[in-house]
Amino acid sequence: MTLSLIGRSLKQSATLKLNETAAILKAKGEPIIHLGGGEPKGKAPLDAITRAAAMLNSAEVRYSPPDGTVEAKQAVIRYTEEHYGIRPRPENVIVSVGAKQALFFAMQAILNPQDEVLFPSPYWVSYKEMAKMIGAVGISVEAEDGGFHPTMKDLTAKVGSQTKAIIINSPNNPTGVMYTAEFIAEIVEFCRNKGIYLIMDDIYHRLLFDNKKTISVFNYAKFDDDSKVIVINGVSKLYAMTGFRVGWAIANPKVIEVMTNIQAHTNSAPSPLLQAAAAGALNGIQSSVESLKQTLENNRNVMYDRLKAFEGVRLTKPDGTFYMFVDFRAYEKDSVKLATLLLDKVRVAVMPGIEFGMEGYVRMSYNTTTKEILQGIERIKWALDPNAPNELYIGERKLVRDWV
Ligand SMILES: Cc1ncc(COP(=O)(O)O)c(C=O)c1O
Repeated sequence: MTLSLIGRSLKQSATLKLNETAAILKAKGEPIIHLGGGEPKGKAPLDAITRAAAMLNSAEVRYSPPDGTVEAKQAVIRYTEEHYGIRPRPENVIVSVGAKQALFFAMQAILNPQDEVLFPSPYWVSYKEMAKMIGAVGISVEAEDGGFHPTMKDLTAKVGSQTKAIIINSPNNPTGVMYTAEFIAEIVEFCRNKGIYLIMDDIYHRLLFDNKKTISVFNYAKFDDDSKVIVINGVSKLYAMTGFRVGWAIANPKVIEVMTNIQAHTNSAPSPLLQAAAAGALNGIQSSVESLKQTLENNRNVMYDRLKAFEGVRLTKPDGTFYMFVDFRAYEKDSVKLATLLLDKVRVAVMPGIEFGMEGYVRMSYNTTTKEILQGIERIKWALDPNAPNELYIGERKLVRDWV
């Protein structure tokens, strides 16, 4: 069978694959603890459901305009004014099928084949693959100190004549680290001087802990019709609405126009039903975001404290999101081997760090119950520690360790 060069070069989405494997094992009755997941466990806000239910009950669900419904765009405009301190015009906004598609369309709108797009490492699994899909090149930027926060020096060292855009995701998937305001200010300035697009992937922007405050890129960037800042956001993570598939982009009108043409010729637009739900969430009572944040902060503390007591394991405390990127090199340097061992032997799902561009680490999600976090870490410890007793009970099941 002949397949395209680009098609063949694409990697499977490791995160979605892990979810699928864990779900299959769970359905078979396996005692899976899923510390790999990338979605909140709670329910979508009531305001989202009532708004979508009202439209569904009308039995009139038709094509949306290709840049999104007026209602959804207005909700995004209001949200942006509240959280970013600028008021975009409707021609600055496109509503798309998740932040994922908004990001992909933005990249399609601005990148030519061979153009380079940079992003700090570790990075979200889709950036590189999206670049590949349009013939562009995704380049990760490692911090010189081996940590999770690159410096401007690290970044500028990778900028060349082909560099067209930089993607920043803060707080970051997979590390939970929030980039400093100074760094954001510097990068804005740098991109402006070089004429490079700056894409802010803000999908976790309000999931911050320790009273940290969201940093709006527009504290530093001018927002006018020549602006090369593109903000990507969506309802998936903050509102537990991953399955609704609604995200958006804020950008200059020319970029939005091209993105709208791309959307018009591909998916037409997200379903108006789901855009109504998103508008309901954005305009509605925000208490669910607050309580999600509190739960996550508590869970982060539980996971952090437990892992800290785990000899050999090295940690960076996340500022936000629902992920922790944990260094297990003292036990296993190959993260795929480690994740496979943990799933096969003790039924704990974690994401191999290599998928995010950093070997020897795994991404652990604390977006679950504290009970699962404690049990999960207990099982991992048992699986890796040669001094642990040889047997472990998971419910009625007796496990015997025969691998370390
Ligand atoms: C960093 C990052 N950006 C974008 C997305 C996509 O979100 P959405 O569900 O809105 O497509 C995700 C989802 O995992 C993410 O982690």
